[in-house]
Amino acid sequence: MTSRTPAVALGTWAWGDSGEVGDGYFGSRLTASGLREVVEKAQSNGFTLWDTAVVYGMGHSEEVLAQALKGFSRTEYQLSTKFTPQLAGDGDDPVADMLEQSLDRLGTDYLDLYWIHNPADVARWTPLLIPLLRRGRIKHVGVSNHTMEEIALADRILGEAGFRVEAVQNHYSLLYRSSERAGILEHCRAHDVRFFSYMVLEQGALTGRYSPAHPLPEGSGRAAVYNGILPRLQALIERMGAIGADRGAPAADVATAWAIAKGTTPIIGVTKAAHIDGLVRARGIELADEEIAELETLADVADVDTRGSWEHDM
Ligand SMILES: NC(=O)c1ccc[n+]([C@@H]2O[C@H](COP(=O)([O-])OP(=O)(O)OC[C@H]3O[C@@H](n4cnc5c(N)ncnc54)[C@H](OP(=O)(O)O)[C@@H]3O)[C@@H](O)[C@H]2O)c1
Repeated sequence: MTSRTPAVALGTWAWGDSGEVGDGYFGSRLTASGLREVVEKAQSNGFTLWDTAVVYGMGHSEEVLAQALKGFSRTEYQLSTKFTPQLAGDGDDPVADMLEQSLDRLGTDYLDLYWIHNPADVARWTPLLIPLLRRGRIKHVGVSNHTMEEIALADRILGEAGFRVEAVQNHYSLLYRSSERAGILEHCRAHDVRFFSYMVLEQGALTGRYSPAHPLPEGSGRAAVYNGILPRLQALIERMGAIGADRGAPAADVATAWAIAKGTTPIIGVTKAAHIDGLVRARGIELADEEIAELETLADVADVDTRGSWEHDM
C-alpha cells in the first residue's frame, strides 16, 4: 500500500442487493443514477479506493461498481476485491479463475488490492496469489478475517517469494474491538501493514439514523441482526451525537473519525451521495483522548456482540 491510499475506503456490499426496499441484506433503495452520484462525489473528494467482493450479490456489486465508475480513467481510482474460498471452483487454479471473473466484471486488467476473504485454508490458497503478483494482475495483497497466527502464516508463505501481507481487513468498530484486543492493530502499526476496518458503522446501527422508533428496513438481513439491540445503543449514540454537534457532524461521522483516530483505514459502506459529505467531515475531526475513552466505555457498557456470522474469534 502507498502513502497515497485515501484515509477512508468505500465499501459496496450493499450495492450487491437488488436495490428494492426490504429486498436483500441491506434493504436500501439504490439506483444506478444514485450510485453514480456517490461515485462522482467520492472521486472529486479524494475517496478513490473501492472495496467489493464476488460474494456481494454474486458478482452484482462488482458489475454495478464498474458501471458507476464508467468514464473515470483507471488511474483515477483503485479497486479492491476478494477471493472467497467457499466459492472456489474445481479448476487447476481456482484463485486465478475467480480473479479473472472479477476483472471481467470490473472491466479492468489488474487489481490494486486483492484479498483472501477468510482463512478457510491459508496454506492452500495463499501460495496461489504469488503468480498473480508476479504477472501484475494484482498489485498488493491483503488478508481478511484472519487471526494473528493466520496473518503470520500467510505472510511467511508470501515472504518466501519476496512478497508480503500488505493489508489486513477485519471487523472493527466501537462495538467490536476484537482485533485490537488480539494485538492485530499493534502488529499492523509495527510492521507497516495497513489495517482496514470494516463495519465501523455497524451497518447503520451506529449512524444515529436508526433507533427503536425508526428501526433498520423491515425484512432485511441487517434488521434481523441489529433491531433487537438498538435500545442498548442509545446512550452511546447520544454521546456520539453530542461530540459531533460541537463540530457540526452527526454521530456517524464520529464513528468514522474514531476509527481513523485508532490508526485504521475505515471501509465505509456508502449508499448515498450525502454520505460522502460525512466522510469529508470525519476526515477533519480530531477526537480528544478523553472523548475516545468515553465512547469506548459507553460501547462496553452497551455489552452487545455484533460479530458477523462469518467471523471467528480473533
Ligand atoms: N471482509 C469482510 O468480510 C467484510 C465484511 C463486511 C463488510 N466488508 C466491507 O466493508 C464495507 C462496510 O461495511 P458495511 O457496508 O457492511 O457496513 P457499514 O459501513 O458499517 O454501514 C453501511 C450502512 O451505513 C449507512 N451509511 C453509510 N455511510 C454513512 C454515512 N456517512 N452517514 C450515515 N449513514 C451511513 C448506510 O445505511 P443506509 O443505506 O440505511 O443509509 C449503509 O448501508 C462493506 O461494504 C464491504 O466493502 C467486508
